[in-house]
Amino acid sequence: MGSNLKAAAGARRTGTPLPAELLDAGERMSLDELRAQQLDNLRATLRHAYENVELYRKKFDAAGVRPEDCRSLADLARFPFTTKADLRDTYPFGMFAVPMADVRRLHASSGTTGRPTVVGYTEADLDMWADVFARSIRAAGGRPGHKVHNSYGYGLFTGGLGAHYGAERAGCTVIPASGGMTARQVQIIQDFRPEIILVTPSYMLTLLDEFERQGIDPRTSSLEIGIFGAEPWTEEMRREIEERMDIHAVDIYGLSEVIGPGVAQECVDTKDGLHIWEDHFFPEVVDPVTGEVLPEGEEGELTFTSLTKEALPIIRYRTRDLTRLLPGTARPSFRRMAKVTGRCDDMIILRGVNLFPSQIEEIVLRTPGVAPHFQLELSRRGRMDHLTVRVEARPDAATEARTTAAETIAKGIKDGVGVTVGVDVVDPETLQRSVGKIKRIVDLRDKG
Ligand code: DLL
Repeated sequence: MGSNLKAAAGARRTGTPLPAELLDAGERMSLDELRAQQLDNLRATLRHAYENVELYRKKFDAAGVRPEDCRSLADLARFPFTTKADLRDTYPFGMFAVPMADVRRLHASSGTTGRPTVVGYTEADLDMWADVFARSIRAAGGRPGHKVHNSYGYGLFTGGLGAHYGAERAGCTVIPASGGMTARQVQIIQDFRPEIILVTPSYMLTLLDEFERQGIDPRTSSLEIGIFGAEPWTEEMRREIEERMDIHAVDIYGLSEVIGPGVAQECVDTKDGLHIWEDHFFPEVVDPVTGEVLPEGEEGELTFTSLTKEALPIIRYRTRDLTRLLPGTARPSFRRMAKVTGRCDDMIILRGVNLFPSQIEEIVLRTPGVAPHFQLELSRRGRMDHLTVRVEARPDAATEARTTAAETIAKGIKDGVGVTVGVDVVDPETLQRSVGKIKRIVDLRDKG
């Protein structure tokens, strides 16, 4: 396999568009065809949910709506939202809409608090999931015959297996690496020479460091495309990874409750946000406080309604992810979502100012002398909350450069976000490395 896809000098370059003959039937639909199909499938999904899931029946009845009240896509706004709490309250299988004998696979999200949430798939659901993920791989520039190194975690997490079957469906050869054993992953990449890597952006950084530790220039590796998701990441992170690896870095989005990875995908030829595979997942962006549907272009909380799922139909699921809907570009009929800014849950309110880890990531990654590894520590000083940004120095940064970096970051945050934070530039390789989804925030506030 040649290295014709290699980004060559990486950052901000775009790749080759998917030839029209490789678009699937869903991608070829006109907007009118898509909207008509969405309405049919939405009505069927609402009926399926109402008839087979007690929780939906109760919620629809309480809101005074019946599936047949949905006569247009806009009517969806009359239906109640679904939240993670609904899945927790019906743990483990209460929201399944098919007999257990028809459920072929279960996944669960770890859940930082309390019970995990469990999701289930029929054979048709697994088939659709593999199809949408395969579509994502093609949009990212992957083609049959490519080797795919899959570092998303295998297990109850949807990342590993979702990506695995999607890559197989795309006609690729899968290397099921999963997360961890980083030194060995680098060796496997060197020996097996994959063109594509599927991994969280934070674990990509861990792998990059390991390449360098082994004395290998990551730019010489066989990798040409990285499909990064499962956590928020910024344009600055894209530039960092593209330059250090000489690959195309594109974004993939998804969540277990909706299907898993492969709900939306950035196209390598535009790198301008993620096309939502709208023939299966209907998006709305709502005001996180009032729940009101917001117009295209306005930032709010993303919600999804599944259109073709059998085992776990999901109606207006509140993702907690903040983003905007934008018109389609590389796939004109499908709307895009802008890169996720952060989760409502991850918003830090510091002395009245709202702050997202992604804003700090932008500033840290622009600052010379520091590595892209940082952690946010929240503590209480008297009655005031305090935030310390701990960031690693680059190995070659002298004491003076570290001091300058700390000042630059503090000033960047003060000027850009409007709040004073402490910045601690720590020694290289002292912060914990990610092997999957990174945990940025350490909250010490209620710990005495
Ligand atoms: O993280 C599925 C996934 C696996 C997506 C691999 C992409 C790649 P969950 O564990 O259910 O599923 O977590 C879903 O992760 O609501 C977002 O907050 C976050 N997330 C996922 N993809 C992105 C992304 C998987 N591209 C939660 N950008 C979601 C920002 C993301 N956040």
